[in-house]
Amino acid sequence: MEKKAKFSSRLGFVLAAAGSAVGLGNIWRFPYLAAKYGGGIFLLVYLLLAVTFGFALMITEIAIGRKTGKSAIEAYKIINKKFSFLGYLASLVPIIIFPYYCVIGGWVVKFLGVYLSGQGHIATGADYFSGFIGSTAEPLLCLAIFLIITSLVVIMGVQKGIEKVSKILMPLLILMSLGTALYSLTIDGAIDGLIYYIKPNFSEFSIKTVVAAMGQLFYSMSLAMGIMVTYGSYMRKNDDLESSVRNIEIFDTGIAFLSGLMIVPAVFAFSGGNKDALQAGPTLMFITLPNVFDSMKGGHIFGLAFFLLVLFAALTSAISLMETIVSFVDDKFGFSRVKTCIGVMIVAFIIAVPSSLGFGILSGITIFGYSILDFFDFISNNILMPIVALITAVLIGFAAKPDYVSKEVKASGKFKSEKLYKIMIKYVVPVCMVVILISSLVGYV
Ligand code: PHE
Repeated sequence: MEKKAKFSSRLGFVLAAAGSAVGLGNIWRFPYLAAKYGGGIFLLVYLLLAVTFGFALMITEIAIGRKTGKSAIEAYKIINKKFSFLGYLASLVPIIIFPYYCVIGGWVVKFLGVYLSGQGHIATGADYFSGFIGSTAEPLLCLAIFLIITSLVVIMGVQKGIEKVSKILMPLLILMSLGTALYSLTIDGAIDGLIYYIKPNFSEFSIKTVVAAMGQLFYSMSLAMGIMVTYGSYMRKNDDLESSVRNIEIFDTGIAFLSGLMIVPAVFAFSGGNKDALQAGPTLMFITLPNVFDSMKGGHIFGLAFFLLVLFAALTSAISLMETIVSFVDDKFGFSRVKTCIGVMIVAFIIAVPSSLGFGILSGITIFGYSILDFFDFISNNILMPIVALITAVLIGFAAKPDYVSKEVKASGKFKSEKLYKIMIKYVVPVCMVVILISSLVGYV
């Protein structure tokens, strides 16, 4: 039966899970948060949180998946009947994120196309990006291209699709990130940017630094949406769980750090040390960077490499979102994989259309002041995900007890951080989640 699908090796599992974790969040969001919240000090806080709080949540989800062999909907029910609602809540997150993630994936396809056809210069106009996302047909076409590529990989299955693609794209991603980061450091004036990026700036440290790092970590590691549960269910029983989670964290944090090295110095040099340019938010990637590339020697190649690596990162993340949806539809209804994939693809496209048109003909529609895409983003990242993580911590910390996870980890090796894990999952994770939830609700960060 399809359900018995497994990754063929530990490396395959690690690369696929890292592929999910490494995404737009690492390349675009991490550098600008680091620049905004005190450079080195943000990096330090982020790192500390990654090896404690992020570690605890990730190992929990993967262990749950591997132990139950099911996707989130069934898995939480198996652990404790009273928590079956948690499976539905967690599965709702990828349903919300997947469509709009593909809209942004489509934008990356478009920009890659621009650089491939040697027209990087036209992307420098301030109105180019807004003109593109505000139009009707082209963003929908790009969305469809991105969605079809993602679906083809998922249709191929866990080993032949996801694992194979991750094994090719992830090493390429590391090489390209290293290459572009090194090149970026050779630009005149880049060293000041490098110093700004890594030197701890204590005056910019505040509780906001911690909250921002926490929120970023959580999104970046693809937690609290059933993805790691699903991927855990495809992990072989004898592969070491703790070291796999450590590897995924190193991968995710490493690429985030490298992205900062590639973006911060280049933007810094371009803007003559004006750090506001780094804080342009989403437009950093699609407006500021094309201008930076245009001004650089070899900027065309740099831009091409950059958008290609962003595409790889976005694709492997979208694949994990779609696989999670496909796997719970499969757990629930047992349709064939091909049918499920085609169904999910069509429904995702339909849901994505309003998010895409929300920047154009539907721009009159806003929800609580957000555009349609931003609203989906807000609901999933700021509300649903912290709630899912909070309830997961309560389930494992208090209802099922942390030994549930410890036993699964020890079934395939040592659990060196067991003591730390127990404290984290019972006390630290719930407190952090409540802090994130409250700060998103009052719009603190
Ligand atoms: N972890 C991905 C990133 O850093 C984001 C993501 C979120 C991927 C949700 C899949 C699902 O960009």
